[in-house]
Amino acid sequence: MKEKIQDLIQELESIVLNSSDDIEQFRLKFLSKKGLINELIAQFRDVDASHKREIGQLLNIVKQNAQSKWESALAQASINTETDHSESIDYSLPSEPDFSGSRHPLSIIENKIISIFKQLGFVLHEGPEIEDDWHNFSALNFPKNHPARDMQDTFFINDDIALRTHTSSVQVRLMEKQKPPIRAIMPGRVYRNEAVSARANCFFHQIEGIYIDKKVSFKDLKQTLYIFVQQLFGEDIQVRFRPSYFPFTEPSAEMDISCQLCHGDGCNVCKQSGWLEILGCGMIDPNVLKMNGIDPDEYSGFAFGMGVERIAMLNFDVKDLRTYFNNDLRFLSQFKNY
Ligand code: DAH
Repeated sequence: MKEKIQDLIQELESIVLNSSDDIEQFRLKFLSKKGLINELIAQFRDVDASHKREIGQLLNIVKQNAQSKWESALAQASINTETDHSESIDYSLPSEPDFSGSRHPLSIIENKIISIFKQLGFVLHEGPEIEDDWHNFSALNFPKNHPARDMQDTFFINDDIALRTHTSSVQVRLMEKQKPPIRAIMPGRVYRNEAVSARANCFFHQIEGIYIDKKVSFKDLKQTLYIFVQQLFGEDIQVRFRPSYFPFTEPSAEMDISCQLCHGDGCNVCKQSGWLEILGCGMIDPNVLKMNGIDPDEYSGFAFGMGVERIAMLNFDVKDLRTYFNNDLRFLSQFKNY
């Protein structure tokens, strides 16, 4: 028995395990229930008591050797399959589908508008979404009893603090810290307490613009905004200005563009008028300039404000404003090419 075991120890040493097949054959031959080692262990019972100690030790050695040889061969094989890619890469396979995202349609339009005004010399400014009464209302000439201050329109945080209802508040912040000439474009999110529908939401986006310098006139306002819509919608666009009212501008106007869908013939989108309103504007009220530390005898300026959602809806022919905020990938993934 002793010789048998010693032969086995030698045999084990000489075995080379190259493939996973070899490894499995080795396990079956030596380590399985009916393998050689278990067979020897079974015979151990019949060994003479005087040899038991020596034979037992040899049996332990052979068992340990076989076990560790098998385990290290297994470990080596798994390292090899992890690092050996030579056979697993198929260079002819088509690439993974493109799951990259795209810009939100509102960002696309906002960026486009900003870049047009940047070409005209306007610089970008931003202000806080939580505003005080002064910046959102008082400094813009809103009388104390103006309906925009009403609880139905404005989300108040307390008597003095509210979510801004328009980006005109950023005009005030800018006039406070900068001397004319000022030529700025101010995008941002605004909030109003409105019932959510296809045409209105409790928050939306505006872009505000101001130009203050010596001798700025209504002529400058018209030409600037005309160039802007030509760049945005095309050279053949037509514009008209209708008298309007805003507390912070005098005179005030609303600008319409010729309907891009029916080209002036009349359709559902323009309600048969051939015109679409796209922004509010006017000459900054001298009172507003004065309240914000700018001498109205020396300087004048114009301002305008537009809704990004409205322009995006015209541009992309989107009928329901809520689709901009649902984050439905079937909608959002349509804007990859802009
Ligand atoms: N703040 C106005 C609004 O929210 C939009 C607006 C109109 C801004 C005329 C202006 C302006 O700067 O001159 O409806």
